Amino acid sequence: MQLLDAIYHRRAVRHYLDREVEPATVREIIDAAIQAPSELNQQPWAFAVVHGRPRLRNYSERAKRHFITHYPTAFEPHPRCQLYEDSDYDMFYGADTLIVIYAMPGHLHAAEDCCLAAENLMLAACGLGLGTCPIGFARPWFDLPETKRALGVPEHYQAIFPLVVGQPAGEADPVPRRSPEIVSWQWEPAPAPVSAP
Ligand SMILES: Cc1cc2nc3c(=O)[nH]c(=O)nc-3n(C[C@H](O)[C@H](O)[C@H](O)COP(=O)(O)O)c2cc1C
Repeated sequence: MQLLDAIYHRRAVRHYLDREVEPATVREIIDAAIQAPSELNQQPWAFAVVHGRPRLRNYSERAKRHFITHYPTAFEPHPRCQLYEDSDYDMFYGADTLIVIYAMPGHLHAAEDCCLAAENLMLAACGLGLGTCPIGFARPWFDLPETKRALGVPEHYQAIFPLVVGQPAGEADPVPRRSPEIVSWQWEPAPAPVSAP
């Protein structure tokens, strides 16, 4: 897939087939993720990979409960959040694999670097025919000390970007974009070339 095709075709995929992602593929998309730029090339990212639906269902329950308990006002603006009250609702959409990108401490722009890695990872997955979906609402739970302990993540790392990966069940509908608000465009015309005498 060409780069622009991947950029235009990547969607947040919320329906997955009951098929497994191969560990080598997960490794491949993480290797693509770390090609992202980072401040001073410090690469302050770390990846936690969780595979297996039963475990993810369990994490979904716990992450939802944590979100509902600690961020009740976040439920007003978006109907998806209200679904979190439903115990059958899987916030990971039945995907078999979840990757959380953690930021290492002590780097000024670690969060930005991790987000760039996340976009690389999602585009690479799209190029390989996989679906992904960021799961921002799960971030607070993946940042809890007890969750990090259970995953073997150093406690001082900060959860930045959880996302699921799986075999997509069909094409996700495109989501419209507003045209960009270009608030300033100061484009000096190039000076006319000086012709030789
Ligand atoms: C930081 C971030 C957090 C997100 N969190 C969630 C989430 O918790 N659950 C979800 O279903 N989608 C989540 N999304 C996906 C967005 O809803 C989606 O990217 C947006 O609607 C645009 O759709 P598209 O990705 O298909 O272009 C998140 C996206 C970002 C960038």
